[in-house]
Amino acid sequence: MARVYAGKRILIGVTGSVAAFKVAGWVSTLAKAEALVSVIMTESARQFVTPLTFSALSGEKVHTDMFETESSEVMAHINLGREADIIIIAPASAQTIARLANGMAEDLLSTTVLAARAPVYICPAMNTRMFSHPATQLNLEKLKSFGYTVIDPDEGMMACKEEGKGRLPEWDQVDDIFQRALSNHDLSGKSVLVTAGPTREPIDPARFLSNRSSGKMGFAVARAAYRRGAEVTLVSGPTSLTAPLGVKRIDIQTAIEMHDAVMEYASSSRIIIKSAAVSDYRARTIFDEKVKKEQIKGSLELEKNPDILKELGRRKKEGQVLIGFAAESSRLEKEGRKKLQAKNLDMIAVNNIKSDSTGFEVDNNQLLLLTADGSENLPLVSKERIADMLLDRVVDICSREQRSELSK
Ligand code: CTP
Repeated sequence: MARVYAGKRILIGVTGSVAAFKVAGWVSTLAKAEALVSVIMTESARQFVTPLTFSALSGEKVHTDMFETESSEVMAHINLGREADIIIIAPASAQTIARLANGMAEDLLSTTVLAARAPVYICPAMNTRMFSHPATQLNLEKLKSFGYTVIDPDEGMMACKEEGKGRLPEWDQVDDIFQRALSNHDLSGKSVLVTAGPTREPIDPARFLSNRSSGKMGFAVARAAYRRGAEVTLVSGPTSLTAPLGVKRIDIQTAIEMHDAVMEYASSSRIIIKSAAVSDYRARTIFDEKVKKEQIKGSLELEKNPDILKELGRRKKEGQVLIGFAAESSRLEKEGRKKLQAKNLDMIAVNNIKSDSTGFEVDNNQLLLLTADGSENLPLVSKERIADMLLDRVVDICSREQRSELSK
């Protein structure tokens, strides 16, 4: 459960769309994460889901009426807006989007948003033609110009049996965006390039050379950096994982493709974290047709792939922070130190790939962090948690570099 939500005041505006039921799940997840969730429902939202559903899930009274007579409600629109750390309007109907775009203080939700200071996130959900209509698109542009964040709807089959863009995204897709809004922004304004997963070196249309990397560690690093405010580019080998919506993802297959993608983004990246498991060799010949077993000899001719990290180390610019990973099965510190030096790194995270509880394919990891003047053993924790611990050290290295720049 994400700790960033605990104690945060989250105001959710639910409007008239069939996707309102999905947001009940969001409220339940946030309440379990100990967020203080207030819900405002518009009149049309109440045609789809009852306020009782949301009050049962949030543990709070649901706000519906601007003119309720209870004294605590008289200034509800001012108080709710003033206290919120973040405002999420989900699902946002075309009607509410139009109201907000035109500053129409017609109901409790629009009045509250007008009076609020918190960042506003709009999650449109509606029929695909309503969504793509120029009126809705223009209104969304206006909302963006106010500084609101519009989270694009998903594509797919809609409740109205039409296919297209307009579905409310799933919680897993928006969770990272809200965590980024609420978390400590110590990587804000920094461009971070992360590599993840294995590479795949083809032999023929049926066969390839690869390794056991699942990409979980690199994706966890990319996700954590995104949540901490960084502009993240993720160059990934083949995996079944999903990256956060706000991360620029580049999918590659081979080491050469990874090399080219990394070199394209390297010079504009302040921090580079190379957690991918790159194949050191590729097949010298790639066959267009499947090689029959009678044709297969006892050996395969190989050619060396470029060492991407080593090249990055050679080209490293002043102020750039370069972090490598090392997959080792013995003499972790000695082998790690060799790579730290040979590849001109600021830090290397050494993985013991022989242990069952760390390394490839599992959800946990334990890392030995090595720098030129120190070493630190991080405990066995989830890859999500260890990604944040690794980034804590990266932030320290960046501030040390900044201080030494200033003292020059
Ligand atoms: N790496 C790379 N390009 C390669 C090989 C490795 O960029 N062709 C990077 C990896 O992404 C990782 C680091 O180098 O950050 C160390 O990778 P590892 O596989 O542990 O070591 P190698 O340098 O390949 O050496 P060896 O396989 O001999 O241990």
